[in-house]
Amino acid sequence: MDRILIRGGRPLEGRLAIGGAKNAALPLMAAGLLTEAPLTLENVPQLADIDTMASLLAEAGLTLERGGRRFAIGGRITSTEAPYDIVRRMRASVLVLGPLLARCGEARVSLPGGCAIGTRPVDLHLKGLEQMGAEIRLEGGYIDARVRGRLRGAEIVLPFPSVGATENLLMAATLAEGRTIIANAAREPEIGDLAACLVAMGAEITGIGSDRLVISGVPALHGATHAILPDRIETGTYLCAVGVTGGELLLEGGEATHLAALIRPLAEAGMVIEETASGLRARREGRLAGVDVMTEPYPGFPTDMQAQFMALMAVAEGAAMITETIFENRFMHVPEINRMGARINVHGASAIVRGVAALSGAPVMATDLRASVSLVLAGLAARGETIVNRVYHLDRGYEALVEKLAGCGAAIERITG
Ligand code: EPZ
Repeated sequence: MDRILIRGGRPLEGRLAIGGAKNAALPLMAAGLLTEAPLTLENVPQLADIDTMASLLAEAGLTLERGGRRFAIGGRITSTEAPYDIVRRMRASVLVLGPLLARCGEARVSLPGGCAIGTRPVDLHLKGLEQMGAEIRLEGGYIDARVRGRLRGAEIVLPFPSVGATENLLMAATLAEGRTIIANAAREPEIGDLAACLVAMGAEITGIGSDRLVISGVPALHGATHAILPDRIETGTYLCAVGVTGGELLLEGGEATHLAALIRPLAEAGMVIEETASGLRARREGRLAGVDVMTEPYPGFPTDMQAQFMALMAVAEGAAMITETIFENRFMHVPEINRMGARINVHGASAIVRGVAALSGAPVMATDLRASVSLVLAGLAARGETIVNRVYHLDRGYEALVEKLAGCGAAIERITG
């Protein structure tokens, strides 16, 4: 299995390009199931999770023409089943449920299991679809959903603003009969991107960007071309990277618009982040100071940045309290960073980070994407050699991570085999 070797202690200097957002690309690809006409997506990142979604679409009978970062998705649906073998690789596979059901009146999708960061049920997706007239049975590890005729518009109040449930219900509602209201909808920018693409495909949606989406169903959608927004989490990760190493980076294509909740504590800690015409420029001045954060649904501090921010706080001066409110088990990086000399204690949903002057390199591993990248950041900050195992987690969500960091002066390489 591949590993990443890092010799820490070098400042990052230079520029690197920010790709399209993984968490926007995945639902946008699923939206390709809503029409036979081609949906062309631009700025699609090259990631393992994208390949997994592509396999699911191929399984449904669609054709995908890939030309670099451009994907044309189209064709007739010949199967409404999302098999276990693919779904087990990626929870976001469940995003095909709403589109398949709305378009074909039936869908059989393997139930995604729990995962490293929590139990992560899909009850909100299923309840919403039931309110729209679907009959849902759970059997043999599969979600079996059907509806007689078209789905029907409904007023759905989400008890929690789930990102995936909002996306699934939004896609399903575009083809439902009548009006659907999704109240307490998640407001993540990736949902706005999905909604914008659906509108370009002929959907009628108002309230985009708010927590109340109103969708007037239409009988059919048509093709469209849509460019995926830049990845705010990739951007945030490299902001934290230059925070741990010092130096100065230009993140080409990176935008501050959707990152206010991260940029605020980074600035408070002592980083200087500026918007320029070509992207975000960031540098660290002196040693950073500890700052408290708490993860929340957008526009709050993103849970997908919690582990990276913790790596930064591990080498800041003073203490920081980091509270995780979205997932119940998203501190798996803590014992690994502690093995590198950090001083972090977890009490329930909060971690107290007492900054140390320096970390020391060690072999480490993590069980999910963001935890893994936080170990890469810790390795960049540490004295000596760090080996990050289980690189396949990183391949799911960071395109050319090693090349991008090495291009900015990091001593980092991938060891294959
Ligand atoms: C999305 O996951 C992202 N994935 C995650 O990114 C991200 O961490 C998460 O949103 C929160 O921002 C994609 O966009 C593909 P949720 P999702 O439904 O949709 C509970 C990464 O690293 N819940 O908002 O699965 C759930 O258990 C990944 O890129 C229910 O209880 O997140 C969790 O505690 C990891 N029932 C909370 O809500 C449901 O039916 C948030 O989940 C659905 C969710």
